[in-house]
Amino acid sequence: MKYYLTTPIYYVNATPHIGHAYTTLVADTVKRVRRMMGDDAYLCTGTDEHGQKVERSAEKAGWTAQEFADRVSGAFRSEWDSLGIDYDFFVRTTEPRHAGAVQWLFERCQKNGFIKKDTYTGKYDVTGEAFVTDEEAQKIDGPVEVVTEENYFFKLSEFQDRLLKHYEDNPDFIRPESRRNEVISFVKGGLKDLSISRASLKWGIPLPGDDGHVFYVWFDALTNYMTALGYGGDAEVDPEGLWPADLHIVGKEIVRFHAVYWPAFLMAADLPLPKGIYAHGWLIFQEEKMSKTKGNVVRAQPIDQVVGIEGLRHYLLREIVFGQDGNFSYEGLVGRYNADLANGLGNLASRTLAMIHRYFDGAVPEPPDDSGGALAVLATETIAKVRAHFEAFEFSRGLDAIWALSGAVDKYLVEQKPWVLIKGEDEETKAQLRTTLYNAAEVLRIVTALASPVLPKSAAEIWRQLGQESDLTAVRYAGLAWGQLKPGTKLPGGEAVFPRLDVEASIKKMQELEQEVLKEQAQIMGRTVEAAPAARQKPADSERIEIDDFAKVEMRVGVVMTAEKVKKADKLLHLTIDIGEAEPRSIVAGIAAAYEPDSLIGRKVAIVANLKPRKLRGLVSDGMIIAASGEDGNPNLVSFLEDAPIGARLG
Ligand code: MSP
Repeated sequence: MKYYLTTPIYYVNATPHIGHAYTTLVADTVKRVRRMMGDDAYLCTGTDEHGQKVERSAEKAGWTAQEFADRVSGAFRSEWDSLGIDYDFFVRTTEPRHAGAVQWLFERCQKNGFIKKDTYTGKYDVTGEAFVTDEEAQKIDGPVEVVTEENYFFKLSEFQDRLLKHYEDNPDFIRPESRRNEVISFVKGGLKDLSISRASLKWGIPLPGDDGHVFYVWFDALTNYMTALGYGGDAEVDPEGLWPADLHIVGKEIVRFHAVYWPAFLMAADLPLPKGIYAHGWLIFQEEKMSKTKGNVVRAQPIDQVVGIEGLRHYLLREIVFGQDGNFSYEGLVGRYNADLANGLGNLASRTLAMIHRYFDGAVPEPPDDSGGALAVLATETIAKVRAHFEAFEFSRGLDAIWALSGAVDKYLVEQKPWVLIKGEDEETKAQLRTTLYNAAEVLRIVTALASPVLPKSAAEIWRQLGQESDLTAVRYAGLAWGQLKPGTKLPGGEAVFPRLDVEASIKKMQELEQEVLKEQAQIMGRTVEAAPAARQKPADSERIEIDDFAKVEMRVGVVMTAEKVKKADKLLHLTIDIGEAEPRSIVAGIAAAYEPDSLIGRKVAIVANLKPRKLRGLVSDGMIIAASGEDGNPNLVSFLEDAPIGARLG
C-alpha cells in the first residue's frame, strides 16, 4: 500500500531549531515504520515563504524577499539533509509549480460557488498571519494591526455540518483525542467565512482574475501537500496515486488550519480529504515553548556534533509522550544517551560481538538447539508489541518494549556467564556457550531492526557488524522472526556505535557550539550578531552628569509576585513587585510583547523606586522596571546572574 505523509512546511522567517526538527524527525520515523509495515511510504516537507512577516524580515536584513526566502529555505533543506531525513518531496511555496496548484484549487472552489468578495476589517496577527478575534488579540505576544480591505472570502460557514459529520464518521481523522474534541467544539461554535486574499500585500501568489490580490498564506501554504504530487501543473498529475494523503503531522497550534480549513477547501473543490491529522505537542525549553520570538532555541547541529543526531531522535521519542508537550534539557539528553544507548544497546552490541570475536574467531556459533527458549518468546512478543505501538504513534511505549528486550539479554548474559563457560572443557558447557552467544546475537539482531526507524544510522552499523548483508531498510516486521541469524556468519568488526559521554564536558561543548551556530544562522538571515552599537559616539563633556545627580535615582532589586495582562492594552503588563517594603509595588510596564505574564513570576528584576507614581489605564504605576530595547524594539529585562538580595540598591 502507498502511504503519503507530510510535515508542515516551515516558515522562512526563522532558521531551523530542534522544535522544527521534532516534527520532521517524527515524520521520518513514521515513514520508516510504515516501510517496515510493508507500505511504500513517501514523505513531503518544504518551506512556507510568502507573507508579510517574510517581506518585513527581508527588508530589515537588506535582501529582496526572494533572496531572503532562498537563503532560509536552503538552510532548512540542508538541515534536513544533514540530519538524514529521508524525504521524497520538498516544496517551496515560491516555486512556479506551487502557484499553479494554488490557483487551480482556488478556481475549483470558485467554480463550485464557494468564493465571494467582501470587505473586511479586523485585527490581524502579523506573526500568526491571521485575522484574530478581539479576545485572541489580547493573548498575542507579537504585533496586532487593524486591517480593512476588500478581500476574497472562502464560504467556510457552509461547511459546518459537513465537517462535523466527517469528524463523526471518521473518529481517527484528528488525533489525539484531546485535539479532536477541541476542533469539534470549535466547529460547533459556528464558522465564519474566511478571508483568503490580501490586497495590501505584494509578496504572495496572485489571485487568478484579480492581480490586485495575492493569496492569504494559509490557502497558499496548505496546498503544498498537493503541489508535491503535480496537481495544477502541466506534468503528469499524481503519477504514484498518492492523494489523498494518509497523514499530516502537525504541531498542536496549527491543527485548526489542517482539520477545519483544509478539509473545507478540499470539499469545496470536490477533492478527496486526507485520511488523518496527528497533532504533536511542543518542545519546552527553560519553561517556555521553544521559539525564535522567545529566544530560547536549541539547534540540532551542536547536538549532532557531540551526542549524534540519533541520540536526539531517541531522546525526543522516548522521553516525550507523543501528542503531549515535553521538556528539553541538555542533562536529560546526555543522561538518556548514556543510559539507553551507551550502556544499553551499545554495550549489548559491543559485549556480544566482542565475545563472538574472541571465543569463536568472529563467526556466529551454531547452537545445538536454536529455539531460543524464553528469550525467543519474549522477542516474538516484542516484535508484535513494538509494531502496534509504533503504528499507533506510541513511540515512547514502543521504545520501552525494545529496551525491555535488550535488558532481558543483559540479564541473560549475567546469568549464563559466557566468560565462565568458555573455561569449561565438557561438551555440555561448550554447547551452552554456543547457545548463549547465539541467542544474545540473535536478540541483538532483532533489537537492532526494531530500533531502526528511530536510530537508522547506528542500527545500520550494528546490522553490518552482525554480518548482515541485506539492506536494513528492506527488513519488514512480517519477516522478522527468531532464528534468522545464520550460524557461521562472519562478523566484520567495527567501532563501538555509542561511546559513553562525559556529561558535563558534552553539555559545555554543545553550549559553546550553539553560540557558533547562532552566529552562522544570524548571517543566513542577514544580521551580524555583534554588529550593533560599534559606531555610537561618546557623550560630550557638557552632557555629562555629576555622581550626585546619579545618586538621586534609587534603583532596587525586586521580585515579581504577580503579573497580568492589562485589558485593551496590547503592550502593557500589570505587575506587583516586592522590593523589601511592607507592601509589594504596583507597576505597569510596556513589556507584554516580549514576556508572558506567567514566565515573570518569581523573577528578579531591577526597578527605579523613587519615581513619582502615575496612573496608566486606571492602574497605579509606582516605579519603573529597567529593560534594554532589543534590536527589534522589544524590551529585554535587566537581570542578575548571581542571586541579588531583594531590596538591594543598584549603583
Ligand atoms: N508554515 C506553517 C505551517 C504551514 S503547513 C501548511 C508553520 N510553520 S512553522 O515553521 O512555524 O512550524 C512548523 C512546525 O514546527 C510546526 O509543526 C510546529 O509545531 C513545529 N514547531 C516549531 N516550534 C516548535 C516547538 N518548540 N516544539 C515542537 N514543535 C514546534 O507553522
